Amino acid sequence: MRRLIFAANWKMHLGPEGAAEFFQVFSQRYRQLLDREVWFFPPAVSLKTVADLTRDRADVRVGAQNIYWEPKGAYTGELSVSMLTEAGGAAALVGHSERRHVFGETTDDTAKKVRALLDGGLTPLLCVGEKIEQREAGSTLAVVSGQLCALNGLDSAVLSRVVIAYEPVWAIGTGKTATPGDAAEVHAAIRRWLVDRGVAERDVRVLYGGSVKVDNVGALVAEPEIDGVLVGGASLDPSAWATIVGAVVD
Ligand code: PGA
Repeated sequence: MRRLIFAANWKMHLGPEGAAEFFQVFSQRYRQLLDREVWFFPPAVSLKTVADLTRDRADVRVGAQNIYWEPKGAYTGELSVSMLTEAGGAAALVGHSERRHVFGETTDDTAKKVRALLDGGLTPLLCVGEKIEQREAGSTLAVVSGQLCALNGLDSAVLSRVVIAYEPVWAIGTGKTATPGDAAEVHAAIRRWLVDRGVAERDVRVLYGGSVKVDNVGALVAEPEIDGVLVGGASLDPSAWATIVGAVVD
């Protein structure tokens, strides 16, 4: 059975109090469906609150929006993999377009973060995606495979623990979504990239992200190539998020 992942990227929203209020509603509206997992990426200050509130939910995972690759030291403002683990985190976003384009994160940085997470036994959710001018120039697949180079050198057993999110930059927070067909084409290319490096088909997980909402989630997850969604804005409202996570999949 295909196990879908519905991941919420809260970005710089919902501190500990807001997170607790969120779960008062969400836990009432969404119980559990066996074919899916729900992942939360709250801001670092809310991570432990979310981990504690969801501890008895086997279908829920909590992760950080960013980590630093060094184990400890004088790195003001950064968060290590072991601190994340201690707070109850099991995963982290890596290479999100806002990290790349607002904070200047490079593919070399994403490679180091991916390795630090894997070495610490956690799951990297590596985000890839092209800008609008790159799509218009027909270079989407070249851009995405360049970003996947962050995974070069990992053997297939380790590579199969990485989850990928395809998030076209032009679709993030803009209300524009790739059509399920367009997304599926890129997803298929990502799947091939992983399978060519020895990852078993059943272990490949490629999520779609970029303006996913109540209205379009059903069509996206109905695509066999799309193994789930990474959602920003629409994951902040607990009722909308419960509806998205409960999307009917045939
Ligand atoms: P959005 O963000 O759903 O608000 O477009 C998605 C993301 O940045 O992960």
